[in-house]
Order: sequence, then structure tokens, then C-alpha cells
Amino acid sequence: MRIKRTNLVVFLILLVWSAVLYVTISFKPIYHSDVSSSYNVDRQILKLEHGISEQFEKNKNIIKNAHKLLEIKKAGDVSKEKTLPKELQEVKLPILVFACNRITVSRCLDKLLKYRPDPDQFPIIVSQDCDHEETRDTILKYGSQLSLIQQPDQSDIQVPPKEKKFKGYFKIARHYGWALNQMFFNFNFSTVIIVEDDLEIAPDFFEYFLGTYPVLIKDPSLWCISAWNDNGKESLVNTERPDLLYRTDFFPGLGWMLSKSLWMELYTKWPRAYWDDWIRDPAQRKGRSCIRPEISRTRTFGKAGVSNGLFFEKHLKFIKLNEEFVPFTKMNLSYLLKVS
Ligand SMILES: *[C@@H]1O[C@H](CO)[C@@H](O)[C@H](O)[C@H]1NC(C)=O
Ligand SMILES: *[C@@H]1O[C@H](CO)[C@@H](O)[C@H](O)[C@H]1NC(C)=O
Repeated sequence: MRIKRTNLVVFLILLVWSAVLYVTISFKPIYHSDVSSSYNVDRQILKLEHGISEQFEKNKNIIKNAHKLLEIKKAGDVSKEKTLPKELQEVKLPILVFACNRITVSRCLDKLLKYRPDPDQFPIIVSQDCDHEETRDTILKYGSQLSLIQQPDQSDIQVPPKEKKFKGYFKIARHYGWALNQMFFNFNFSTVIIVEDDLEIAPDFFEYFLGTYPVLIKDPSLWCISAWNDNGKESLVNTERPDLLYRTDFFPGLGWMLSKSLWMELYTKWPRAYWDDWIRDPAQRKGRSCIRPEISRTRTFGKAGVSNGLFFEKHLKFIKLNEEFVPFTKMNLSYLLKVS
């Protein structure tokens, strides 16, 4: 009886033990939880990936919209604030266009008239050399939108025999000297923007020169504002930053602004030829700089004339013309001033 009872107790103990073992082993959560957790991790990663790419798309859109908004805001600012900063309202910046015997000057004039914000502030004076009738007629068709002056001295120029083929450069220098004298001494302008008949301008050409005008006037270490980046090919410029401006020691020309004070220095010794090489000479430059944009505000559409056509084909025609309007007159450009 006693043994039987002991057996029973042992049996019961064993039974309970087995039961405990069975329960612990078969319901041990590790196996089950392993599967579910790795399954969960996979799902989480997928979800995360999905979320990240969704967020990425969203961010891309946010950035795109921000850019758009900025553009619209800029344009809005410009159209809303028609009134210029006070110190710029009275500034007169005449455009002096050099023409000779190319009727394609109309391409230049069309763009000037298209983008000119105010005819009173930016009078256009076309100076014609060469007595070319067709070109004169082309210019006169614009009527009162612009003025025409004509270089009166059509006499032959004495050129050293070796330079016979460069006679064109002598004529150009004579024309420049005469026309700039007209602008500063006859019309009494205090600043002039020079454009040649083979240039077309960017939409913010006038805004650029008006915005940089105070910088030119304030800083005696500057002697010109140029619309041209000599290395401004599309692949070489930052196309996202049409607002970028720099100081340069090189005289870029091709759409540039000078003040009367500079002309007072230059006119007495103005050269007979090759004026643009001459003006780059240290004797003229005197260590001064020009302002130039990252993206050009002028582009040459080529000339079949004095200048080298090959240079146009290989270089000039690839210079990018800016397309986006930058409100320079509303920007703080004091960073361009030389800190002395
Ligand atoms: C020319 O303009 C200056 C200001 O730039 C002025 O002081 C001067 O009186 C003007 N001269 C004539 C003849 O209009
Ligand atoms: C323009 O920027 C300069 C710093 O480059 C600053 O000292 C000056 O106060 C700014 N002017 C205005 C009107 O904000």
C-alpha cells in the first residue's frame, strides 16, 4: 500500500514534470517569436524604405515648390514695387549703340526696346558711322523710340602701310571717340552704357546696370560695369545663380558702362586704333577693376565685319545669355565694394 502510494506520488511528480517540460518546450516563445520578429523587421524595413522614398519625393517637391515660390515672389516683388529705390529714381542711363553698315542692328534694337522699362530713364542713342544708307533707313524706322546721330567725318584715314588691312579698327576708334564726346560733352550725360550692333541683351540688362550704378559711382577702384563674362559658356557657369556678380581685373567690354569721370581721363589720349587693347593697358587701367556677371547679360549674334569670324564660331557663340530676371536694384550689392 505504502509502495503503491509512493509510486503514485512519483508518478504524479513525473507527470507534472513532463507537463511542465511539455509546456515549456512546446510553448517556448523563442521559436515562434523569432519568426514573427524577423517577419516584423522585414516589414518594418519595407515600410521604412517606402516611407523614406515617399519622404524623398515629398522633399523634392517641397524644394521644387520653394524654388517656384521664390521665382514668383521675385517677379511679384518686381511688378509690385514699380517704384525704384529713391536714389535710383533720378538716374539717367543712356544706351549708346554703335552701328555702321549692318542692317542686322535691328536685332539689337528690337531687344533693347523690348526690355527697356522706361524710355526716359534709358534713352537709346544710335550712333552710325559709314554712311550706309540701308542701315540708316533701318534705324530711322524706329521713329521716336530712339535717336540717331551720325559720325560726320567720313574722310579716309591715313594708315601705316603694314596696317592697311586693319583700317577698320582705325575707323572704329574714330567713331568711338567722336560718339563718346557727343554723349558726355554735347548731351552732358554723366554715365553711358555702350552696346554694339551685333549684341542682343538679356531681360534684366537694364536692371543690372541700374542696380550696379551706385557701386560704380561709390567705388573709385572700379572703372566699368560689364554685361559680359568672357568665360561664360553654359558648361562653365553656375546656371542656378544668375544673381552672382564679381570684380574682375580684365576689361570684358561687350556691353559696358562708364562714367564721365573716366572719359575725362581717356578722351585726351584716345588712340587711333585698337582701342580695346589700349584700354586694357596698365597705363589706362591703373589697377582698377570692372564688375561682371556670372551669366552674361549680352550675347553676340556674330558679325561679318572687322572682327574675326573664326573667334565667333569657336568661342563667342557659346556664351550663355541669362534668361531669368534678377531684381538687382532691390538687392544689397555692397559686397562688391572694395574694402580698404
Ligand atoms: C551738365 O551736367 C552737370 C551734372 O552732371 C551739371 O552740373 C552741368 O550744369 C551740366 N551742364 C550743362 C551745360 O547742362
Ligand atoms: C548691406 O550688406 C552689408 C554687408 O555686406 C551690411 O553691412 C549693410 O548694412 C547692408 N545694407 C543694408 C541696407 O541692408
